[in-house]
Amino acid sequence: MNKKVIVGNWKMNKSLESIKSFFKELDQDLVHSKNEKWIAPQFIHIKDALELSSSFKIKIGAQNASSFDEGAHTGEISPKFLKELGCHFVILGHSERRSLYGETNEAINLKVLNAQKNKLLPIVCVGETLKEREENKTEEIILHQLALSLSGVDFKEDSLVIAYEPVWAIGTGKTATPKEAKAVHELIRNFLKEQSDEHGDKIAILYGGSVTPQNIKELFLEKNINGALVGGASLKPEDFSTLCKA
Ligand code: PGA
Repeated sequence: MNKKVIVGNWKMNKSLESIKSFFKELDQDLVHSKNEKWIAPQFIHIKDALELSSSFKIKIGAQNASSFDEGAHTGEISPKFLKELGCHFVILGHSERRSLYGETNEAINLKVLNAQKNKLLPIVCVGETLKEREENKTEEIILHQLALSLSGVDFKEDSLVIAYEPVWAIGTGKTATPKEAKAVHELIRNFLKEQSDEHGDKIAILYGGSVTPQNIKELFLEKNINGALVGGASLKPEDFSTLCKA
């Protein structure tokens, strides 16, 4: 895997005006970087982001999607229609969805299955809390999250991406050291290889949690870190551009 995947997770940030200025200020040279460049804005801005980003070859995705396709599900967003709109991927099981909105591994699993059915590429997030790390439960937690949230899914290179995001590193400025990240990425890689001989080695595993233009290069030296899921540092055009060129 030569090229890295850089995903900007904009969370519940940015007005339409600020999205317009982001793309106006973004370095046009970015189009030549060989890394994959993806952004997940809020649902309401997906259509605008698709138009504004096309000249940069940036792929647009969503931050969540329903486990249902359509029908009586007030307030839910269908992966079928996200795909129809032009979305490439969807972030599922982010720690904020798990901790603030009570999403369980089982609920995430249904969303992953439905995203794959609709050919929307799921980025499935896993990660331990600080307490779990301090109690030496990191491996157990990650393997448990992987086993349950990926039950019955398709383990193919182009139908699944995993993101390892230690909860204690998200938005805290405390990134995992390359050594800490390496250990968990290896654990995830071995899990994927057990699921698929053919594709386990090729499914991208992203690191997320306080990634910045300053620390990304060091993280990218690790063999099993195939990209980054970036919150805060993806909001500024100059930082996003530096991240994408890493
Ligand atoms: P952060 O967020 O880069 O601001 O730590 C990462 C994420 O939540 O995906």
